[in-house]
Amino acid sequence: MPETLCGGQVTLHHGDALAWLPLVAAESVDLIVTDPPYESLRKWEGIGTTARMGMGRKGSGADDAEKFFPTIRNDQLPDLMRELWRILKWNCHAYVMCDADTLPYFCQIAGKGWPCEPCIHHDDGAFVPWSNMKPLVWDKMTAGMGYHYRCRYEFVVMFDKGKNRKLNDLGIPDVIQFKRVDGKDRLVPTQKPLDLFKLLIAQSSSVGEVVCDPFLGAGTAAVASKELGRRFVGCELDAGHLAIAKRRLAAGLFDQTASAETNNV
Ligand SMILES: C[S@@+](CC[C@H](N)C(=O)[O-])C[C@H]1O[C@@H](n2cnc3c(N)ncnc32)[C@H](O)[C@@H]1O
Repeated sequence: MPETLCGGQVTLHHGDALAWLPLVAAESVDLIVTDPPYESLRKWEGIGTTARMGMGRKGSGADDAEKFFPTIRNDQLPDLMRELWRILKWNCHAYVMCDADTLPYFCQIAGKGWPCEPCIHHDDGAFVPWSNMKPLVWDKMTAGMGYHYRCRYEFVVMFDKGKNRKLNDLGIPDVIQFKRVDGKDRLVPTQKPLDLFKLLIAQSSSVGEVVCDPFLGAGTAAVASKELGRRFVGCELDAGHLAIAKRRLAAGLFDQTASAETNNV
């Protein structure tokens, strides 16, 4: 059963997003902001560090595969994106976080090449619903782990369904800077900065519109939506993560580390 919080502004579902999304009505949300649990996160499993998943170092007793949250396979991304497209209203945006390993799958899903031309059909006739795709770069401002240059960025892939929604502020550049969530502020692995999600929501929705995140984690998209006066609907598989999201929504606890700065780079 879904749980309604914040005076009806927020609805949270507990379960598998891949089973929940087909139950969501077509064209019922105004914006999607999500951070799916990618297959590529698992490459850190058992190779010496689990820092990406927030679990600590090898040998510390904290690098237990059981502690990784479940991930979805790359071959499930086309179905996921098809469902996201279906539930989104026309002339609306979807933002999907991803890393360099996963970006090529989104290029393929969105059509030819990168950046892709507006494209309705592949040459083979396959339906390509998104009218545009644009990867933004999230600069985390401090370096993380990595032997082939230390990791400092992630992508936020922006998709358009239809062509007629303008961003609310056309002056924001495609490289956006927010400090990564770390230390005591990180409630779940790979938690995103509240101000990053607030920027995306402020750019692509209006007060009262419905924002959706099928992979809630600590509920950053829900908290950002609540703060900005948007309605919110989301889903999370892990009962512990869902409980954290509910606590944040109830207590109004926000990331202390997230700065409000958005700088041009
Ligand atoms: C990358 S984290 C999201 C972090 C979130 N953006 C935040 O700021 O806290 C991905 C989340 O998806 C959840 N998850 C994994 N598989 C799922 C599934 N099939 N359905 C719903 N949630 C799932 C994980 O438990 C995890 O909380």
